[in-house]
Amino acid sequence: MSLKKISKDQPENFEFNDENFKKANIIIKNYPEGKHQSAVMALLYLAQKQNNNWIPLAAIKNIAKFLKMPYIKVYEVATFYSMYNLSPVGNYFIQVCTTTPCMINGAYKLVEACKEKISKNQKELSKDNSCSWIEVECLGACVNAPMIQINDDYFEDLNKEKTIKIIDDILNGKKPKPGSYRGRTNSEPENNRKTLLQNKNA
Ligand code: FES
Repeated sequence: MSLKKISKDQPENFEFNDENFKKANIIIKNYPEGKHQSAVMALLYLAQKQNNNWIPLAAIKNIAKFLKMPYIKVYEVATFYSMYNLSPVGNYFIQVCTTTPCMINGAYKLVEACKEKISKNQKELSKDNSCSWIEVECLGACVNAPMIQINDDYFEDLNKEKTIKIIDDILNGKKPKPGSYRGRTNSEPENNRKTLLQNKNA
């Protein structure tokens, strides 16, 4: 199953719930009259969040109507960007960065953890349909490599064991804490160093 493949099982309708409808109206006000179509990416993301991490075709139609733009244009945006899922990915969508800084710091060990705990192949739902994983390009947290993104949260400075523990936690309904798993605050230097010059070998 490719995540970019359109799901065969589609709901007949999609409407924004009250909260998201209000948010959508606030978002379009960020753009001048006649330019509301620029809100298409934000609205697709809102629809994806409301619909358990994936966008059904009915949501694409709904957004096209909302923004008064041709359906095909919204469809093109939804199918082009990797941040949009067009088939179910489960409650927890795990993205493993395997770009160079993460790769040389052990990203493929995190991939192994996903294979063992979720499914052998990326883009495939786990047995209980609760999550899936995928390899992605740099997520912009290279200083804390290797890392994964689960839904909206980053989990950083990982190794295989820590990744397994995080996945076990989410599979058991717990909420693991995002951030560094080597105790760093954000991306501060390790060992209390304040400047590179404090270290002889720097
Ligand atoms: S290379 Fe993994 S976050 Fe940048």
